[in-house]
Parts: sequence; C-alpha cells; structure tokens
Amino acid sequence: MTTPSEPPPVSIAEYGRLAAARLPVMTYDYFASGADDEVTLRRNREAFERLALRPRVLRGVGVPDTSVEVFGRRHPLPLIVAPTAFARLAHPDGEIAVARACAAAGVTQTLSTLSTYSLEAVVEAGGGPRWFQVYVFRDRALTRSLVERAEAAGYESLVLTVDAPVLGSRERDVRNRFVLPEGMYPANLVPEEGQEVRPAGEESGLARYFTSRIDPALTWDDVDWLRSVSRLPVLVKGVVRGDDARLAVSHGAAGIIVSNHGGRQLDSAPATIDVLREVVEAVAGRVPVLLDGGVRRGTDIVKAVALGAAAVLIGRPVLWGLAVDGEAGVARVLALLHEEFARAMALCGCGSVAGIGADLVPGQGGG
Ligand code: FNR
Ligand code: LAC
Repeated sequence: MTTPSEPPPVSIAEYGRLAAARLPVMTYDYFASGADDEVTLRRNREAFERLALRPRVLRGVGVPDTSVEVFGRRHPLPLIVAPTAFARLAHPDGEIAVARACAAAGVTQTLSTLSTYSLEAVVEAGGGPRWFQVYVFRDRALTRSLVERAEAAGYESLVLTVDAPVLGSRERDVRNRFVLPEGMYPANLVPEEGQEVRPAGEESGLARYFTSRIDPALTWDDVDWLRSVSRLPVLVKGVVRGDDARLAVSHGAAGIIVSNHGGRQLDSAPATIDVLREVVEAVAGRVPVLLDGGVRRGTDIVKAVALGAAAVLIGRPVLWGLAVDGEAGVARVLALLHEEFARAMALCGCGSVAGIGADLVPGQGGG
C-alpha cells in the first residue's frame, strides 16, 4: 500500500521506482531484467524517446474520444495488458487483482500460460474481456487441453508467443538462481514431481523449466495446428519482420503483435517501434498489428498508433502497479495511461483515435 505520508506515484516510472524499493531483489530482477546486456530492453525506451511528435493546432478537439474498435470489441483506449508470468510474486492476489482492475476499466487482460492463478480462477474473479497466451509444450495433449479450457472459460483470443523457443539469458536470474517460492506453481498445470520452477544448479529455475517443457522447434505449421484445435482467433506475438508478418497472415493469424518480449529474449533485437512500419506495410491492412515493449507514456501510445498499431500492450507497468498497491495500483496505472493518452491526443489535435496519423511523427511517416 502507499501510505498517507507518501503521495501516490504520478507516473509509470515512479511506480517502477517504488516497486524496486519494495520487492525482494529476486522478484524485482525477474520482472525488470532483459537478456544478456539488456541492449534491447534499453532500446525499446530509447526508440520511443527519440521520436518527436509534431502536433496539429486549432483543431477544436475538446475532449478526445480515446476509444477504439479492435477485433470487434470497443476498447476504452488502444491498450491491452500483456501476458506476464508469475504475478503472485508481485502481490498475493496476482493475476486476480489484475483481472479485477482490468474489468473495472474495461481493459482486456492477456493471461499467461504461466499464471500463478488458474485461468478458471481468474475468470471467476472478474468479468472483463480477456485473451489467453499460449506457450506450446512438448506435450501437445497438454497444450491442447489448456487451449480447450481457455475457450470453455470464455477467453476471446489466443496469443501464440513465437519469440521464445528457448528462454533468453537473464543474467540477473542466473545470478539469483531464480526460483518460485514453496507452494507457488504455474497454476494452469498440475505440478509434477521434478517440474517445479526451481534451479538444479547454477542457473535460473525458469530457464530450466523452459528447457524441459517448452517445445524449442515450433514451425509455421504449429500456427495451423493451434488454429485446428480451437475456434478462437490466434494472434502471433513476437514478430519483428515484415516477411514473418506476411507468413503469419498466410497461416491464418488474426493479428500480429510486434514484440521483442520486452527485451527478454534475443538481446540485439530491434526496438519494436522501429520495425512497426515495416510490419504494418507488409500486413497491408489484412489483420490488426499491435505492439509492445517500452510503452510507458500516453505519448508512446500516440506514436505507436500514428505508425500503424491498432493497439499497444503493457507488461511491466502492470507489475509495478500490482507490486505497489495490488488491484488499486493496477487500476491507477491503467488510469494514468488513459489520462496521459487523452491529454496527448488533445495536445496533438486529435479528436479521435482514427485521427492519429503518421504525419504526427516526422521522418517516420508524413514528413
Ligand atoms: C513477460 N512477457 C511474457 N510474454 C509471454 O508471451 N508470456 C509470458 O509468460 C511472459 N512473461 C513475462 C514476464 C515478465 C516478468 C515480463 C516483464 C514480461 C513479455 C510480455 O508479454 C511483453 O511482451 C513485454 O513485457 C512488453 O514489454 P514491457 O511493456 O514490459 O516493456
Ligand atoms: C518471461 C517468460 C515466462 O519472459 O515469458 O519470463
């Protein structure tokens, strides 16, 4: 909880600093870290900061309409909560607190395969819109049963993560020998002997879990396979190239998420905002293109939408809100970004999301 003597954080960055001060080192490091030298982690932010916005004036905007329709649903702003594993490390209410805050705000939550409350428990906790993120296990029957459970529980889309054939090397997790505390498991899976998220030697327990359970050899045929076992639309998350985006569309993807996993997988991958245009051009309007990685301000959302994103996702900001103040912290993080986005739209002369054009971003779009 924030205490009376302590004013509530005024920005996502402040939530991050407060979370750093409060969380155990192992947890904070797991949430915050990127792979290797964390070049891509930093690059996501630097790329947003480098882009200028060139506002239009005297457009009579008044109060902008921040809402947007994506996948047949109206979202209060073009923002979705990204899947992040092990939210109970941030707060005892974990993904349930996130679900409640999202439901109250009308924001879509993407639940990770590796959530610490089961996908059914999260649905019982709140009634908001939600997507389910899929990691494909070596055990396809297990993967299939997860997907069937998600569909039965009312998840609206599947988000297939394709940038993690192996886990990136998060050196802070290796140093900390990252482990889930006793009694905490990936709750969608029945814990089996020897399959806990726990290191065996000098390693990250998550890296060990990944190596033993997640399929390292997925192909585009697996997108077809996933589509064949579910009626839900499949979004492909982790694309940073136009040619891959085209392949995803030809394999029936309902949407593309331009993502480098928040800099946690291939270090040296480009900043997502720097490759968005290429992906949007390759997809040519056939399916929505979304983006995540380093979104921390309303102006970042404006930049992504200006360059063609239908919506953005946020990962760590939600974990910071959760760590600082549980459900209320997540609610505040979502509200901050909503307020900032509305203000940025007004200052840019945009009355509607459709009016956020590439001309706002000099050099990248209109001029
Ligand atoms: C993630 N991410 C992630 N992605 C995914 O597909 N499945 C997962 O289980 C996780 N787990 C996870 C845990 C933590 C602690 C983080 C920080 C991230 C990646 C996530 O969905 C998203 O791509 C990034 O977090 C976006 O970047 P920002 O907003 O954190 O900069
Ligand atoms: C992570 C995995 C679980 O980034 O996606 O930690």
